[in-house]
Amino acid sequence: MTIPDIVIAVDGYSSTGKSTFAKLVAKEFGFLYLDSGALYRGVTLFALEQGLIEGTDRIDTARLIPMLGGLDLHFETDRGTCIGDRCVEAEIRTLRVSNSVSPIATIPAVRNFVDAKLHEFGRKGRIIMDGRDIGTTVFPDAELKVFMTADDQVRAQRRYDELVSKGQTPDFQEVLANLKERDYIDSHRETSPLQRAADAFILDNSDMNLHEEVVWIQGLIQGKFGILG
Ligand code: DC
Repeated sequence: MTIPDIVIAVDGYSSTGKSTFAKLVAKEFGFLYLDSGALYRGVTLFALEQGLIEGTDRIDTARLIPMLGGLDLHFETDRGTCIGDRCVEAEIRTLRVSNSVSPIATIPAVRNFVDAKLHEFGRKGRIIMDGRDIGTTVFPDAELKVFMTADDQVRAQRRYDELVSKGQTPDFQEVLANLKERDYIDSHRETSPLQRAADAFILDNSDMNLHEEVVWIQGLIQGKFGILG
């Protein structure tokens, strides 16, 4: 199926499988996939390594904000998220980073920093981007918006399995608590909270596999753009 040069925004709760879904859709339709959460995670890793976070959520914003100007955080095709010439893909996915990323993402200066990077990719078309505010704030005029959700226990189990597969030894209750906490902070912050754009299609994948999700979006695209499968 050939689809036009559009922007697809995929937002939703933590661990709903947004990135797995978006990556597969990108591959299927020849789109560029961009993971906006990776940039918030990169800023969080940087702040942790600079000693700017005490506990999980006491952030020295007065020191962090001026340092953002010199932070070379970017994506590389082969290595993913990098800080300078160091690839940080593994480090940004640890529970230590997950525990502090939502508080970091509430800081308006951090959101501006990330939004500027996301906009660098411009509206060149054929982009699928996942996050929390892509369809509401980053690309409010995206041609197709998806809002993903799934049952809490299902999401925690997925995140748990993912961490185990990466050689980590998580505690299930801690994983569940972390995702509920992140959902709460993400949905209640003042700047660009996680919310469904009025024109977003809801994808509840509690009982769906990836193949069914792709079939679902194909149907949506065919209907919306009048494409015959
Ligand atoms: O998608 P993720 O779990 O990697 O995102 C990590 C955090 O980054 C998430 O808890 C909230 C924040 N985030 C955000 O505020 N806005 C986005 N567009 C993407 C992520």
